[in-house]
Amino acid sequence: MNPRSDAVVMFGATGDLAKKKLFPALYHLADHGGLDCPVIGVARSAWDDTTLREYAAAAIQQSVGADTDDAVLQDLLGRLQYLSGEYGDPETYTRLAGMLTGAQIPVIYLAIPPSIFPSVIDGLRESGLAERSRLVVEKPFGRDRASARELNQTLSGAFDQDRIFRIDHYLGKESVEGLLAFRFANTLLEPLWSRQYVKSVQVTFAEGFGTEGRAGFFDNVGTVRDVLQNHLLQTVTLLAMEPPISEDADSYRDEEVRVLKQCAPLRPEDTVLGQYVGYLDEDGVADQSRTETFVATKLTIDSWRWAGVPFYLRAGKYLPGAATEAILEFHRPPRMLFAGEGATVPKANRIHLRLGHSDGVTLAMQAKSPGKQTVTREVGLDVDFASALGQRREAYERLLDDAMSGARHRFAREDTISEEWRIVDEILDQETRPLPYYKHTWGPIEADRLPGPDGWHEVSLKV
Ligand code: BG6
Repeated sequence: MNPRSDAVVMFGATGDLAKKKLFPALYHLADHGGLDCPVIGVARSAWDDTTLREYAAAAIQQSVGADTDDAVLQDLLGRLQYLSGEYGDPETYTRLAGMLTGAQIPVIYLAIPPSIFPSVIDGLRESGLAERSRLVVEKPFGRDRASARELNQTLSGAFDQDRIFRIDHYLGKESVEGLLAFRFANTLLEPLWSRQYVKSVQVTFAEGFGTEGRAGFFDNVGTVRDVLQNHLLQTVTLLAMEPPISEDADSYRDEEVRVLKQCAPLRPEDTVLGQYVGYLDEDGVADQSRTETFVATKLTIDSWRWAGVPFYLRAGKYLPGAATEAILEFHRPPRMLFAGEGATVPKANRIHLRLGHSDGVTLAMQAKSPGKQTVTREVGLDVDFASALGQRREAYERLLDDAMSGARHRFAREDTISEEWRIVDEILDQETRPLPYYKHTWGPIEADRLPGPDGWHEVSLKV
């Protein structure tokens, strides 16, 4: 069993990620009894412990709301310390090392822009801290395959691979991880999960809002780098991979890489990029920016199981609402016995896997419609996981907990990331402008036809 980390260090403690995700995650971890060590926030602002505590308290109250347990909050605030320093100044790391003298195996979280990683990694190496610490890094892991390789060299120059924890927070979501349990714990489904029965797969990642004050960051990134290269491909991986040969972290990640290697590079001619009308007027967006806020594309997996089954993926901001949903459409029965004369042909069976809000599963099946005629209509066999299983923990809390315990299977490996970049490389930075679309629509009209005449299946939207 790996030793548990005995200190948490957060670079970028005054930033957006810390506020929205990390402080709430630390609170929940403390609430569940998983945090009994010091937490040190590092950033450039001239704050002190009190300012950091006030900032953290406000962030937690905003996220947890009226359910905040004051005793847990006070206990967490009491653990917080602040270190103000320049990331490129060796003195910052000497002082940090001084604050960590009692810690054997700190976990160091880089909630900072990747451009600052090299200075921080140097500082951690020179101060001797890297040798005994675990490192957590956030996406984006580079801008393409070549820069991801460089980033990896920087990280592995100071940290062993098994101490680097690369966060794709989708891997920490119970709903996304549940895909594997759903597939491999149910004998009923596994035989159907292949080209013999599945006609196509659609994955939708939709957000009903825009860049939400992050335009400056987003405009350098775009939807392909922000969510397709990581969250969507990760979801496809779990839908398509073979069962791991055992439960250890590497067997699991070996299978992930294997299926990614079988994915063909995405092709510009099968891809529609869009940009919502009004994006160019936002603060932080470059003049005439060609950054996409929408992408729809077709992925193919040249494997024994999936050859010939198209995977249609779409993601975007300012769509009609929020949804993260994967849908498998099955082949129709060989003869349509119950269509009825003159009636419309029944829809094919589908499995809807809801991975975002109201996560759960719906099997869209045909059942006999009441009446004299033997015709069918669609019914949904539906399960809502929160009602059936109870509330689950948030991704960031689970991932922080894992990183502190040295558990690696919910983190991306370097070769996984490299394969993901290989798949998206050809659709990055295209010369042509993305097509315009109005806010709260499903992207440019050209995307509607991508999956063929029947278009995209309806997803369960939160508006
Ligand atoms: C992040 C992206 O990784 O994922 C954001 O940078 C996006 O742009 C977010 O909004 C979506 O995460 P979730 O958990 O809300 O689906």
